Amino acid sequence: MIEKIAGAERSPAEKSAQQPVQRCIDPACGAAYGLRERVYVCSRCGGTLEIDCGSLVASSDPAALRKRWAARAASRDPRDVSGVWRYRELLPFDEAAPFVALFEGNTPLYSAARSAKYCGLDGLRLKHQGCNPTGSFKDTGMTAAVTQAVVLGARTAVCASTGNTAASLAAYSARAGLQAAILLPRGQITPSKLAQSMDYGALVCEIDGNFDDCMRLILELGDDPSIYIANSINPFRIEGQKTVAFEMMEQCAWQVPDHVVVPGGNMGNSTALAKGFQELLDLRLIDRLPKLSVIQAEGAAPLARLFQNLDLRQSRNGANLPETMPPVENPRTLATAIKIGAPVSWKKALRAVVRSGGKIITVSEQEIADAKAIIGRDGIGCEPASATTVAGMKKLVAAGHIRHDDSVVGVLTGHVLKDPDYVSHYHRGTLSIDSGAKDSSAQPQHIAGAFQNVPERVAATKTAILETLERRR
Ligand code: F0G
Repeated sequence: MIEKIAGAERSPAEKSAQQPVQRCIDPACGAAYGLRERVYVCSRCGGTLEIDCGSLVASSDPAALRKRWAARAASRDPRDVSGVWRYRELLPFDEAAPFVALFEGNTPLYSAARSAKYCGLDGLRLKHQGCNPTGSFKDTGMTAAVTQAVVLGARTAVCASTGNTAASLAAYSARAGLQAAILLPRGQITPSKLAQSMDYGALVCEIDGNFDDCMRLILELGDDPSIYIANSINPFRIEGQKTVAFEMMEQCAWQVPDHVVVPGGNMGNSTALAKGFQELLDLRLIDRLPKLSVIQAEGAAPLARLFQNLDLRQSRNGANLPETMPPVENPRTLATAIKIGAPVSWKKALRAVVRSGGKIITVSEQEIADAKAIIGRDGIGCEPASATTVAGMKKLVAAGHIRHDDSVVGVLTGHVLKDPDYVSHYHRGTLSIDSGAKDSSAQPQHIAGAFQNVPERVAATKTAILETLERRR
């Protein structure tokens, strides 16, 4: 479904404002590119790009924006029903751009009492991005990236993926009538995610290699004029995903939480949230930034390692940050969504975390698994990568970075049905991970199901069922 974004209801002053540009994030370079230029990295210095929406922010009236956004909650206009396009005044698209949507966004902000207690917090809210149309947070970015692919007249949209980006790109490309080609590390994607991409009609290329190999190939393909890259290196993806910060703040009645905690893989999500919060601050719709913390799985944590060795006194406000980051050669985690050793958006994410006063830390496989089960006990199902948030919060509370009475929002990135095998193994006590040692005789590491919930075999009688209930009460 392609619709027109007509009449973004901007005032004449807003309409005449300067256009946003794509800008290199390296302050020493700062090269600018037009919105119609198909660039993914700065052609002058090789740096990462972001969309500079300063002109949109400068020309917006914050009070009017807030009122307009609130009024849209009652509207049936497809642009208003989408939790991304509802914020179109701050998106870098022409009013006449065709938009490709699946009514993404509008995800719940749950309170999670058991998870809070587990972390040592008085209260905790979880924003469940797994409630998006394809079951992950990728949809809020993909609606923008695929719209841009249509604007540019691309023939094929491509991505490397650990599964969720692929499913999302496949779905949005199907809506747009665009070919989608996805590069997946063979044998390392959950069957549910793979099934989604197949169902949405994408060309699925299973690559002998890991995610980082797929990403390298994507960057090589980027100079072919028929191809459009939809990974989060693409700054339009980030633009869609930044709206999650807007929606979260509306749901928090504009009271900024002390901490926002997200999982870290390729680092698009953390980058996007930070950009959203910064724009709200620039607009004075919020009066401070939440501390943004990113949690990585122990076996796939290049940025957490780098962060651990940073001298933060020298890096205040995101200045003097390292130019390079040693990758993890063979990333290892059962949270396959974040099994990434060389994240492309690490610089943007690191800068954002440092500026906000947050942390980047690791959690173990056991910590991820138990946190996932606790989130489940709150009646909220997420995939393993998402549970790094709660596992990470528990550690950050124990370390004194988060106080028990701080307000905390965790972002859950994917739905529980993205990886049901993991859940089943955990509860049956059969979850394990290869040791990662080169020596194939090394024993796999067993992950104990501390909150195991094994199905019971019960005789087909009323008495047997009642007896079983009584025993488990
Ligand atoms: N959680 C889930 C469920 C994910 O699928 C991903 C990334 C992340 C967290 C990490 O987010 O990359 O923005 O830091 N998945 C990508 C994919 C890599 O291909 O689906 P990030």
